[in-house]
Amino acid sequence: MSETHAQERIDALTKQINYYNYRYYQDSVSEISDYEFDKLLEELVGLEKQFPHLLRPDSPSQRVGGTVTKSFASVRHRYPMLSLGNSYSEEEIREFDARVRKVTGDELEYVCEQKFDGVALSLTYENGVLVRAVTRGDGVQGDDITANARTIRTIPLRIHGDNIPASFEVRGEVFMPLKVFEQINAQREDIGEQLMANPRNAASGTLKLQDSAEVAKRQLDCYIYYLLGENLPYRTHSESLKQLEQWGFQVSDTYRVCQTIDEVMDYIHRWDTERFDLPLGTDGVVLKVNSYAQQEELGFTAKSPRWAIAFKYKAAAAATPLETIIYQVGRTGAVTPVAKLKPVLLAGTTVKRASLHNANEIARLGIHEGDTLFIEKGGEIIPKVTSVDLTKRLPGAKPIAYLTHCPACHTALVRTEGEAAFYCPNELGCPPQIRGRLEHFIQRKAMNMESLGEGKIELLYDKGLVRSAADFYQLTYEKLYGLEKVIENAETGEVRRVSFKEKTVENILASIEKSKTVTFDRVLFALGIRYVGATVAAKLAAYFGNMAAIQEATAEQLQQAPEIGGKIAESIAKFFAEPRNIEFVQRLREAGIQMELEQKELVKEGDSLAGKTFVISGVFANFERDDLKDKIIANGGKVLSGVSGKLDYLLAGENMGPSKLEKAEKLGVKIISETDFLAMIGPLPASPNGGGER
Ligand code: IVH
Repeated sequence: MSETHAQERIDALTKQINYYNYRYYQDSVSEISDYEFDKLLEELVGLEKQFPHLLRPDSPSQRVGGTVTKSFASVRHRYPMLSLGNSYSEEEIREFDARVRKVTGDELEYVCEQKFDGVALSLTYENGVLVRAVTRGDGVQGDDITANARTIRTIPLRIHGDNIPASFEVRGEVFMPLKVFEQINAQREDIGEQLMANPRNAASGTLKLQDSAEVAKRQLDCYIYYLLGENLPYRTHSESLKQLEQWGFQVSDTYRVCQTIDEVMDYIHRWDTERFDLPLGTDGVVLKVNSYAQQEELGFTAKSPRWAIAFKYKAAAAATPLETIIYQVGRTGAVTPVAKLKPVLLAGTTVKRASLHNANEIARLGIHEGDTLFIEKGGEIIPKVTSVDLTKRLPGAKPIAYLTHCPACHTALVRTEGEAAFYCPNELGCPPQIRGRLEHFIQRKAMNMESLGEGKIELLYDKGLVRSAADFYQLTYEKLYGLEKVIENAETGEVRRVSFKEKTVENILASIEKSKTVTFDRVLFALGIRYVGATVAAKLAAYFGNMAAIQEATAEQLQQAPEIGGKIAESIAKFFAEPRNIEFVQRLREAGIQMELEQKELVKEGDSLAGKTFVISGVFANFERDDLKDKIIANGGKVLSGVSGKLDYLLAGENMGPSKLEKAEKLGVKIISETDFLAMIGPLPASPNGGGER
């Protein structure tokens, strides 16, 4: 393809993709299938790889990421990023108002906004195109995280409309929506991985990830609240906010222009409870003088503007008696203590329970039996126990003695060094652990047995029909028909009857049968190996191709797969060192479950690499690792997983592990770069590589 042609095609694809994205994200309409959409995106990515200089900074391909930044460049802010003065009472707000009026006189308006609890970001636009995104840092200079910011859907890559200044800067708050935060933590809990502490840390951690494709998956969002630039035509902050909205920035519609300080107070009161309905945590209200002329008159202190102040809400708090502590046992055997409380109303919802996390937390709080506990709900939705009301302690109350034995199977609990949680070690005989593993196996992201659920699993377990997930494949109509059980929800006390009638049984058997078509990466995830979540499973599946290879790999070999670290590798090796797990996998294999990745239909491109073996390591400019693998196979070569004396070439990208390099050097293996490799196979064909999710 000629360059002119490529340019035309890139323009056309960009326009089309932007249009479909707009329809999808703004109007919630899918005009084309995901498959067709992915094809367009793949074609664009392919062309951009082939003609790198035609890649535009506002290309829709940037939304799916793929840029790897080893260390973020430090950039000086054009306008320092200041902080805000805080206040905690209405009185302080009235004092602020009086100070302002002394300078401005009584002709005065305020804009009230939410104080979003996320991470501040500065975005620079030149000629309407986003060119730089920088974190706050120390306020004077921050980190350039442009590639990561480009994956955030609500940050426009290019703005449209009238009056676009040649250069301007906007500031806003990047956040992880509470729903996303909870989802990701639920997934992490499921595979026994460390949880993210709160949505704020989750957002700031995500912005600092090196691989922007990973950032894209975390679904960050952003509210814009500040416009800066030279000679801008706006007279007030609220005018700027309106303009920002028209340009396509996401401005939260929670702001309000207030004429009097009483209106400000109304705003503050109203949002004290309503803020809990927002998609993110907020911890107060920001009050800004609306007129820019007045802002200028007021000026700045060294740290913050004199024309703005933050009002911080006190966390909503209540005191309520502890009824009892329930101990939950998860799939991995981890025990979590939960305080069952006398129901109490807190910022709009009734709180009945609060997690106490672990034994250390109970000791730290010094909780005694029957204590009255202070509960708080801060910027986030999750209530937490903050302290004990000692004035209400019952005479003779004893400190909570932490459980020593599993509440379900009565096995003595153990605690491994360095871990906060106690575990029930009775993996094979502890009912909630077994049921948890079965629930993990059937979930949508794993074997996707839609017709089964918690209640039905409990019934199957109780009747002794299913102990291992492999038992699902031995179920028959006769075994299931007529089974029945009354199940009580321990939490709500609700009672319901689960019974297997004709239709139910048919559905269950059908969804078990259908699970045999689930792809190998999901099967690997379904096994429930600790630390092997859906993403890790997909990476392992792509690298090793089948179960046998993973089963036989040593921890060291497992670590050669991309992004597989020591902890995960050890965990997998340990899993497959257990004969019963080998047997479990064997039974699944015999049941007809997918044990290997379907081979992609590869179009043969040539024989230039015939008989040659390669190991791929690191990150590459023109290829995803899988594409490189395909490329080698399509040209007659073979890809191996480990460096040995027999290996012909180590294809070395950026960021590759030093141990592999060292080993290759020692064994005299030829080390080649991406450019060397491209020269070996001749010029790139026009077909696209890569792809991504919408
Ligand atoms: S305006 C010069 N507006 O609060 C002041 N900041 O303490 C510019 N924040 O770093 C900031 N919501 O991260 C402003 N509606 C809002 C805000 C907000 C949250 C954060 C921001 C800033 C910090 C200042």
